[in-house]
Amino acid sequence: MKVQTIRASQFILRPFKKGDESSLAKNLNNKKIIKNLLLIPSPYTLKDAKEWVDKNLKEYKKEKPSMFNFVIDVDGEVVGSIGVRNITEHHMAEIGYWLSESYWGKGIMAEAVKLITVFGFKELRLKRMYAFTYPSNIASQKTLLKNGYVFEGILKKHAYKNKKFLDDYLYANVK
Ligand SMILES: CC(C)(COP(=O)(O)OP(=O)(O)OC[C@H]1O[C@@H](n2cnc3c(N)ncnc32)[C@H](O)[C@@H]1OP(=O)(O)O)[C@@H](O)C(=O)NCCC(=O)NCCS
Repeated sequence: MKVQTIRASQFILRPFKKGDESSLAKNLNNKKIIKNLLLIPSPYTLKDAKEWVDKNLKEYKKEKPSMFNFVIDVDGEVVGSIGVRNITEHHMAEIGYWLSESYWGKGIMAEAVKLITVFGFKELRLKRMYAFTYPSNIASQKTLLKNGYVFEGILKKHAYKNKKFLDDYLYANVK
């Protein structure tokens, strides 16, 4: 798929590249972030970051990728990431995101979700974009609501994390 860069007011969205591993590991290895993400191990190591960058580089080369992740780049550093996964062609995908704690509360993710939603509907020609959040994650829920995502319901024991079954809230935006 064509790899693209999207400019925003405080950051750029761009694909992962070699060299991102150290800032990725540094900024994502934070329990306050990881507790809200399903698939990220804690601690998040440089080895994890290398595997993730490699996986994304392979995925960008596919004509029909199943996921597409952008780096949230400030001054060349990976300060966060936003992407879509479980892409089903011309139909739907799940969005997910995180941001380094030192950048929280500046409106960055509100803008990033807006941009990825346009990317999903226009470039991937999706009809439905959805996200899961834990009930306690008010910041993420507000970020979705600001961008046209609607609360669709509670999925009981939908997530399994740290040997516990957790409820998920489901939000979706349809075109
Ligand atoms: C969720 C997260 C991405 C929000 O990013 P952010 O750039 O700080 O969010 P923004 O500054 O764009 O704020 C978006 C909205 O959330 C609100 N918000 C931000 N942090 C908040 C907090 N801690 N508590 C309550 N509301 C909060 C903002 O006020 C804003 O809403 P408003 O405009 O109605 O006031 C960030 O906190 C994060 O990375 N958390 C850990 C990982 C995570 O939860 N990922 C999502 C998993 S579903």
